[in-house]
Amino acid sequence: MAINPKDNYFTDTSKAPEPKLGDKPILGERYTSVEFMELEWEHMWTKVWQIGGTVQELPNVGDYITYNYGRESILMTKGQDQKIRAFYNVCQHRANRLVQAESGNSDSFSCGYHGWKYALDGELIHVRDEEDFLQGSPCGKLRLTEIPCDLWGGFIWFNMDEACNSLDDFLAPHNEHLSVYPLDNMMRTDWITIEGDFNWKTVQDNFNESYHIPDVHPQLKYFLDERYQSCQFDLYPNSNVRMLMPGSVPTPRALDEEDMIIEYIKHDAEMWELNVEDYRGRFEDFRVDLQKQKRKLAESKGYDFSKFNDDQLTDNYHYGFFPNVYFSMKPDGNIFLRGTPHATDPNKCYFDMWYFTWFPDAQEEYYSFTMEEYKSKSTPVDHIVGKFGEVSAGPGIDQDVGVWESQQQGLASRGFKGDYMPNQERRIRYHHESIDRYIDGTHEFLQKK
Ligand code: FES
Ligand SMILES: [Fe+2]
Repeated sequence: MAINPKDNYFTDTSKAPEPKLGDKPILGERYTSVEFMELEWEHMWTKVWQIGGTVQELPNVGDYITYNYGRESILMTKGQDQKIRAFYNVCQHRANRLVQAESGNSDSFSCGYHGWKYALDGELIHVRDEEDFLQGSPCGKLRLTEIPCDLWGGFIWFNMDEACNSLDDFLAPHNEHLSVYPLDNMMRTDWITIEGDFNWKTVQDNFNESYHIPDVHPQLKYFLDERYQSCQFDLYPNSNVRMLMPGSVPTPRALDEEDMIIEYIKHDAEMWELNVEDYRGRFEDFRVDLQKQKRKLAESKGYDFSKFNDDQLTDNYHYGFFPNVYFSMKPDGNIFLRGTPHATDPNKCYFDMWYFTWFPDAQEEYYSFTMEEYKSKSTPVDHIVGKFGEVSAGPGIDQDVGVWESQQQGLASRGFKGDYMPNQERRIRYHHESIDRYIDGTHEFLQKK
């Protein structure tokens, strides 16, 4: 039975109207200049909603996490009232960074410099020599500086702009589209941060186009139809973007390499009880047959696909949240991709790859087709941090990361005169124009409602 979404309950797959884009060249200095980095910080990073961590990291009162974000560190914690709050991680005495650990549990936060102590809701509750303050005791007067914080999709979001518009406005329409996926229940089974020698925009640009796939990911042609004519690109008014790419189907140019196609689709076929050998000479049929088979067997395999449209059972639904987060939705998980700016150097950033596995009900172990390995529900995942080459961001994504340093070097060259892009890369242009609209203050998200 084909399910075609007729109402908003299912993911809206209609094509967004195309915005009118300019043709100003995207110059290398946008990636290398400290001045431009400052403009981005002042006018964009301090005004957009960002993800500080996952809700699953804070199950108990007193649990906390910190997240290094540009020159700031953000502290997020669950209070006695079960509310999750976000603060600048800075002591109000003489500015020492308050919490050094990345995560933990505590009933209060004590500064390591002079011992000032804060409650979980940010109130200053103890200082030594309280009688010695000529201006009066700071207790009851000072608090940690709190910033807007909200939850969506199993993530903790914060915004450094106290007067910001709502998270819902910022996320639209992705929050509605993605409501069919059990984001809250997916588990982070990979947590990788690469200390990159490249600007954060090389990361975002890369995930804003699929033109590079034949060269950078030659294996994808066996199970993705990556041709731009087969994909849908959506550019939404608030700068969020989307790409829909057919999966479980080879690109036509790969059709004569049958053994390779079988190699890449066999795990999926096996799980869903299809015989790959039946598809020799007709691999174009595999995608639709797999969709039908998933509908038929979903319940017995521990999945609820009832709100998915047929394409979501096989395809890549790739959602870009302005300015720096991608969710690459697979039928059984989500690759979270993000470039976070460095504190001071435009030639550096932190690239995060988190993989969220959607475990079938009651299944402890699951073979992730995307990560090409078994994932376990009960094994806590470590945060692995390192340079590219020392740590892996997983198959496929490592191929992307392998390009960015070389591109950053080229962006600093006097020989680069600005981009010359095909239309299928237009999400990149839209992204850069959106940054400029933040910098000049005209972006719609900045307009007060
Ligand atoms: S700077 Fe924190 S107690 Fe002095
Ligand atoms: Fe890629």
